[in-house]
Amino acid sequence: MTDRKLDGKVAVITGGSSGIGLATARLFIAHGAHVVIAGRNEAALQSAKRDLGGNVFTVRADVSRPAELKLLMRTAHDALGPIDVLFANAGISECPDIFDTGESFLTS
Ligand SMILES: NC(=O)c1ccc[n+]([C@@H]2O[C@H](COP(=O)([O-])OP(=O)(O)OC[C@H]3O[C@@H](n4cnc5c(N)ncnc54)[C@H](OP(=O)(O)O)[C@@H]3O)[C@@H](O)[C@H]2O)c1
Repeated sequence: MTDRKLDGKVAVITGGSSGIGLATARLFIAHGAHVVIAGRNEAALQSAKRDLGGNVFTVRADVSRPAELKLLMRTAHDALGPIDVLFANAGISECPDIFDTGESFLTS
C-alpha cells in the first residue's frame, strides 16, 4: 500500500479481537499504524495477534471496568508512546429510541 495514512501513528482499538475491531486493526496496520487491541478474552486476543501478524500489541481489559480501562490506556502509552487514535469500538448503546430521547436522558 503506497498511501500509508497512519504511518508511525499509535492506535488503540477496544474490542479488537473480532468483527469490526479486528477488521479495523488490519486496515490500520496496512496504513502503517502501531496498533493496540483490547478485549476480555486472552485466547481471542492471541488468535487475533497471530491473524494480524506484526505491529500489534494486545492488552486484556474489560472496558466496562474503569480501573481496567485506565490500565489499558496506561499500558498502551507505556509500550508505544502517545496515543494518536482511539477507536472505542467495544460496547453496546443503551440509548432509547430516538423519538423517546429527551433532555432528561442527556443530563442523566
Ligand atoms: N456488527 C454489526 O452489525 C453492528 C452494527 C451496529 C453497531 N455495532 C457495534 O460495533 C461494535 C463491534 O461490533 P462487532 O459486530 O464487531 O462485535 P463482535 O464481533 O462481537 O466483537 C466485539 C469485540 O468487543 C470485545 N468486547 C466485548 N465486550 C467487551 C468489554 N466489556 N471490554 C473489552 N472488550 C469487549 C470482544 O472481545 P471479548 O469478548 O474477548 O471481550 C470482541 O473483540 C459493537 O459496539 C457493536 O455494538 C455492530
